[in-house]
Amino acid sequence: MGFSRLFLLLLSSAFHINLSSSEVAPNFRKNCSISDGNFTANSPYEANLNRLFSQLKSSDQDFNYGFYNISVGQSPDQVNAIALCRGDQKENDCRSCLDVTISSLQEVCPRNKEAIAWSKFCTVRYSTRKIIGVMEVDPFDQIHRWDSQSVPRDVNDFDRALSFLLKNLSVGAATGDSLFKFAAGSTVSSQRIYAMMQCTPDLSHENCSACLATASGDRMRNFCYGNTGCRILQPSCFLRYATDSFLDNSAKITIVPFSPPSPTPTEGGPPPSPTPTEGGSPPSPTPTEGS
Ligand SMILES: *[C@@H]1O[C@H](CO)[C@@H](O)[C@H](O)[C@H]1NC(C)=O
Ligand SMILES: *[C@@H]1O[C@H](CO)[C@@H](O)[C@H](O)[C@H]1NC(C)=O
Ligand SMILES: *[C@@H]1O[C@H](CO)[C@@H](O)[C@H](O)[C@H]1NC(C)=O
Ligand SMILES: *[C@@H]1O[C@H](CO)[C@@H](O)[C@H](O)[C@H]1NC(C)=O
Ligand SMILES: *[C@@H]1O[C@H](CO)[C@@H](O)[C@H](O)[C@H]1NC(C)=O
Repeated sequence: MGFSRLFLLLLSSAFHINLSSSEVAPNFRKNCSISDGNFTANSPYEANLNRLFSQLKSSDQDFNYGFYNISVGQSPDQVNAIALCRGDQKENDCRSCLDVTISSLQEVCPRNKEAIAWSKFCTVRYSTRKIIGVMEVDPFDQIHRWDSQSVPRDVNDFDRALSFLLKNLSVGAATGDSLFKFAAGSTVSSQRIYAMMQCTPDLSHENCSACLATASGDRMRNFCYGNTGCRILQPSCFLRYATDSFLDNSAKITIVPFSPPSPTPTEGGPPPSPTPTEGGSPPSPTPTEGS
């Protein structure tokens, strides 16, 4: 009896240790196959990568608003990394995010020479290539809300207000300085929207704008349209929006009053067609098109 109870206790505590050591970062997403290179066990590359990870996890690094740019070793075994915490994260939360995200990444991409991980509060990427100052929009991933409350009250109005907000925030993020390119804000039309946009701060103003334009363009249209919450995750920049305030209380949130773009009546062109009234049928396709 005593023996089997002890055995069970040992078993369950071993199980518990296993569980906590494989804790996965919230909203973890990764890509291990950006390039098809693998390193071998006990290679110089592995040693450099391990050194890089322990430097990223160590508190000796300056916080710099959660931006880390580290290179270890010499070519061809050089490893370059960029890590970035979401702009509203404090140092301690940022470090916990890096810890758990790096551990998760090591677990799921154990031999890859290049990989990227996104999680709720931070991003970590590494490569043999030079990645600092280089704007990259691929690979990308997305997370969209998908439940009974995921449909905006008025899809078209929501979309217009969201675009208006993101236009403002992308300027704010791109004009940030070389340590911090982050903007968060809120607007309200048929419902309130919160959003954030962020670039890795090594990007130029122009490249940050271009990166955010890729995220908020076709990618957002394809994956986010008709959802009250969504994220587009790219290597060099990210965007997120939601109807609840997902930002830290200490974040600087720009209140952007929504003013729908008014049609310019003086241009002489035909007036814009009236928007269908509420409850009316959706706009029907022009019958002459393509016939
Ligand atoms: C790298 O490892 C993965 C998984 O083990 C394998 O599928 C892939 O073919 C390997 N790539 C190369 C270039 O060896
Ligand atoms: C912009 O990004 C491109 C592509 O990554 C890079 O080659 C270029 O140097 C960047 N330009 C600036 C001004 O940072
Ligand atoms: C990972 O990235 C590569 C290179 O961008 C891409 O071809 C591949 O589809 C991505 N894999 C996944 C699962 O997204
Ligand atoms: C990144 O790190 C390299 C090597 O330490 C340094 O020379 C470079 O100035 C850093 N770049 C940025 C944008 O922090
Ligand atoms: C964003 O909105 C704020 C608040 O209305 C305003 O002060 C700021 O000038 C706007 N920025 C841009 C680029 O439109």
